[in-house]
Amino acid sequence: MSFPYQIKSFEDYKASYKKSVDQPEVFWGEIADNFAWKKKWDKVLEWNFTEPKIEWFKGGKLNITENCLDRHLELSGDVPAIIWEANNPTEKSRTLTYKELHFKVMQFANVLKNNGVQKGDRVCIYMGMIPELAIATLACARIGAIHSIIFGGFSAQAIADRLDDAKAEFIITADGAFRGAKDIPLKSVVDDVLIGNHTVKKVIVYTRTRVPISMIKDRDIWWEDEVEKVEAQGNPFCPAESMDSEDPLFILYTSGSTGKPKGVVHSTAGYMIWANYTFVNVFQYRPGQVHFCTADIGWITGHSYIIYGPLSSGATSLMFEGVPTYPDAGRFWDIVDKFKVNILYTAPTAIRSLMAFGTDILKDKNLSSLEVLGTVGEPINEEAWHWYNKNIGKEKCPIVDTWWQTETGAAMISNMANVTPSKPTYATLPMPGVQLALRDEQGNIIEGNGVSGNLCITFPWPGMIRTTYGDHERCKQTYFSTYENNYFTGDGCLRDEEGMYRITGRVDDVLNVSGHRIGTAELENAINMHTGVIESAIVGYPHDLKGQGIYAYVILDGVHHESEELTRKDILQTITRIIGAIAKPDKIQFVSGLP
Ligand code: WTA
Repeated sequence: MSFPYQIKSFEDYKASYKKSVDQPEVFWGEIADNFAWKKKWDKVLEWNFTEPKIEWFKGGKLNITENCLDRHLELSGDVPAIIWEANNPTEKSRTLTYKELHFKVMQFANVLKNNGVQKGDRVCIYMGMIPELAIATLACARIGAIHSIIFGGFSAQAIADRLDDAKAEFIITADGAFRGAKDIPLKSVVDDVLIGNHTVKKVIVYTRTRVPISMIKDRDIWWEDEVEKVEAQGNPFCPAESMDSEDPLFILYTSGSTGKPKGVVHSTAGYMIWANYTFVNVFQYRPGQVHFCTADIGWITGHSYIIYGPLSSGATSLMFEGVPTYPDAGRFWDIVDKFKVNILYTAPTAIRSLMAFGTDILKDKNLSSLEVLGTVGEPINEEAWHWYNKNIGKEKCPIVDTWWQTETGAAMISNMANVTPSKPTYATLPMPGVQLALRDEQGNIIEGNGVSGNLCITFPWPGMIRTTYGDHERCKQTYFSTYENNYFTGDGCLRDEEGMYRITGRVDDVLNVSGHRIGTAELENAINMHTGVIESAIVGYPHDLKGQGIYAYVILDGVHHESEELTRKDILQTITRIIGAIAKPDKIQFVSGLP
């Protein structure tokens, strides 16, 4: 593939940026011409931020899997699409070429069809990081079903809430998942989700850990058996459903400042083009490079930079099942060497935690294949930036610091590797198409350089959130009501003397713990569900490894608490039940009044 829209110099960036502002429809229309359409669009953009109503490439028809798979077959059918490294380094890695991935996606799309999944149906996917997760995701997109992937660390209650909200009737899962030294009993969690549930029709279970699991007749079916049935039917082909540009591609739940998580809805065409455009430009991807994004596909970073961005570019995307510290803290670097990774994209928390193990572990690592490094998910501190630059990039790899959100679909503010200037701890400059404004509490625009304010976006970009599933009003209230005619990010931001942007952190009631968003209200609700808790308040505090730690103040009713320590543990159990272990506070302090 070639990318005529790949920006080649700082001058080129400035010209592209200007054009994206002066003539947005011309700009994005020319880029969209490089994709596979079943029918071209009638209008590039229609929008208003008051409803809000955002329509990109209106009237166009396409299928994202034709862009991610079919169109690569002729020239790059034998190129690895996905390289997969198992949790355990002694287990054989797997490679799926574009041809093979295309085949498996069509096959599984037929499994979905055989089981009654139709265009527009919501399919919940709860799996570990195995190629079948990508296959299931793309198979949904193939037939126009809306996928809703749930991170493997969420509890049964959190999954049940999401299932309900999305009114999903299908679940794709596995018996279990390997993650570091632990096995996660995925199917058993799903079984808890489904106690008393009458809406879920089918649960498709892939075999990964082969732990004993319950399989309920007529509802629970094995992935492998269903694939066999499709094979027996003798039709390996599954046509790509014709989707409208604005048809929803997926729902992804994320925490906000109010009670329950919101289902962020992304569209088909706009999201695809945004994921692709940012992948090609931020990382300056060249055909043949191996891209390793260490995020889990359960988060937006995995959606956009393991699946849709790389695959729509014909790239080789490396997928890792495990964790950075298993079996030891050299695991990422071993993977980089084993597969000659060229682009490494990870989170500051991972860098900080590996940094803590020292540089001895790096002695026998080569790392010379690396060309570009990236970070995402939270502000990166100066020390971690320099460590990454020196010890991993050997001072020859640009570091792209990409600021974005689940709601923005893909990178919004970032330097472009070797093309635009970088600056430690700064996300630097907006991508073409991203028009920023800093505003004060009163809503005034803060002009000039050397200023700070609340970060807003004043014009639509193709990959932006379209709605919050089932509750458009919530989308309007959350993002478009704080500042009239602006999308409000919830982040504070500094624009320095050179006009470079640095994200300073959330200004709403959302914590960013190890790059994961935790809504304080959601966590307080979970704690308040614990017996004996009268009230609670969550605050974030600076944490060396996690960026932010969680501090919980809790008022108890004073009745039969035999030991404070046990009560603390009980509360942690309740949180694990209601949300998941990722939301556990670092500290719980019992108080008689809230600060
Ligand atoms: C934060 C992750 C500083 C920010 C892609 C944002 C960042 C939230 C950066 C979104 C960055 C993300 N520098 N902060 N490079 N990237 N953030 O939805 O507070 O999981 O609002 O999306 O992470 O988190 P989310």
